[in-house]
Amino acid sequence: MLKFYITTAIDYVNASPHLGHAYEKVITDVVARWHRAQGDETFFLTGTDEHGAKIVRAADLAGKKPEEFVADNRKQFQELLELLNISNDDFIFTSDQKRHWPGAVKLWEKLADAGDLYKAKYEGLYCVGHEAFVTEKDLVNGVCADHQQKPEVIEEENYFFRLSKYAARVKKAVESDELRVLPESRKNEVLAFLTGNVEDVSFSRPSKDITWGVPVPKDPEHTMYVWAEALTNYISALGYGSADEARFEKFWPADVHIIGKDILRFHAVYWPAMLLATGLPLPKTIFVHGMILSKGQKMSKTIGNVINPVEMISEFGADAFRYFVSREIPFGEDGDFTRERFREVYEGSLAHGLGNLASRTAAMIEKYFSGAIECPEEAERMSVPTRRELRKEVSSERVSLSGESIERYFTLGVVRFFEDAMASYKLTDAISVLQAFWTLLDGYIQDYEPYRLVKTDPEKAKIILWNVAWHIVRSAVLLEPFMPETSAALLKLFGVSRADAESPARIVISKSGPLFPSKEEKK
Ligand code: MSP
Repeated sequence: MLKFYITTAIDYVNASPHLGHAYEKVITDVVARWHRAQGDETFFLTGTDEHGAKIVRAADLAGKKPEEFVADNRKQFQELLELLNISNDDFIFTSDQKRHWPGAVKLWEKLADAGDLYKAKYEGLYCVGHEAFVTEKDLVNGVCADHQQKPEVIEEENYFFRLSKYAARVKKAVESDELRVLPESRKNEVLAFLTGNVEDVSFSRPSKDITWGVPVPKDPEHTMYVWAEALTNYISALGYGSADEARFEKFWPADVHIIGKDILRFHAVYWPAMLLATGLPLPKTIFVHGMILSKGQKMSKTIGNVINPVEMISEFGADAFRYFVSREIPFGEDGDFTRERFREVYEGSLAHGLGNLASRTAAMIEKYFSGAIECPEEAERMSVPTRRELRKEVSSERVSLSGESIERYFTLGVVRFFEDAMASYKLTDAISVLQAFWTLLDGYIQDYEPYRLVKTDPEKAKIILWNVAWHIVRSAVLLEPFMPETSAALLKLFGVSRADAESPARIVISKSGPLFPSKEEKK
């Protein structure tokens, strides 16, 4: 059995979770569920990043102690996971002194032992929004372009990590795909950075300024820089630095870290350098997703285009949200999220598309065949071919399937394409092929009109309905990573278990409400 270790970034808890956080959880969950379905021993980690200046300030503003503030906010992130049906196996938070700190301390000590930490005076600029040191060239009119904040001028003694010493080795690992950075454009971005002059990085802050964090071992005058310890969550959660490192031994290195493009450098440069310095294996892949925008712009309170994920999920359900972000935000690129488009997709692709296809098919089986049909002979099933092609943009080039039976269409076209897409992190393509297949099934009904045929050739009408119902069931199995609830509801509707989906003996309709109810239907 293969092991598969997958992580999300850990979210800052300085404010409530937003759409970007929800997005990253969903896409990571899709990949994790897919690997579980393939039989891989999967470990899916997520969590929260709770140290740093940004959080201390937010706590101050809220009039709370940091520990109280982070615990309250963490709850909201955990509730979001529940609401989105995220199948994480674990949750780590960095203020956890029992689980996270020992790993952070161990890694720090290893860096120190390797001679890769040294004290020096730091003079420069710090952007609290970024939790990172910035330079003049990162600023526009003297403020950080991303956070519209003036950076702070800092002059202090810090520990520095010899990043420069590892730049060439990290570059080689990225170039050779020993550390795969996907998509290609992000790999090039990392390589460009590593080709320039890579400087050492400050890895601590004076504890008189920042007390909220992990103290530097043997030197409590200093607090670890938030990124220096946050990255360690990927191994501290597995027990690195604890009395029992069995899980770490089993699951490390990560098969994939899923992160957003704004934190690429920390993951594809700092983290591998830290691992190289301590002699630990590098993660195998870093998949970098894009940003969710709203009406083409970054979401911001000032612009007034912020969308609350909890509100959307409460109104439309987790699966609709999961479908929308997987299908509409091209994986690896920035994408737009608006309420209008969401409603359009919900009503179009989901309620009128998949929902309607399933309920019409079930209703015809009920009406004409008392709700139950037996599996026809293979020759019969094959005798009613589809007259349509899968929509061009998703059809596989390798097989031409016009005039094929639905089941060959499904195995040779849909399944193959879907599996290839999932294996290469093309989630948007994978869900799109399912969508195109449902459209094809709709067309199959339109072409053969089983509702008319039932009067003249009921046997043929039955075969057609079998082909459609069975293939809704088969596609529901593929759909599970994307829409777990809908997948289960479809199997239930047609009375087929997951284990039997490839060769059910019969289909028996069970009554149910609409899969994607309208506002009125919900009432
Ligand atoms: N705490 C750090 C990560 C440490 S990982 C060791 C951090 N936190 S964050 O809360 O700012 O972001 C968490 C994740 O959400 C990041 O991967 C980030 O790219 C992602 N997103 C934040 N805003 C986003 C969008 N608008 N759209 C998509 N993802 C976005 O960075």
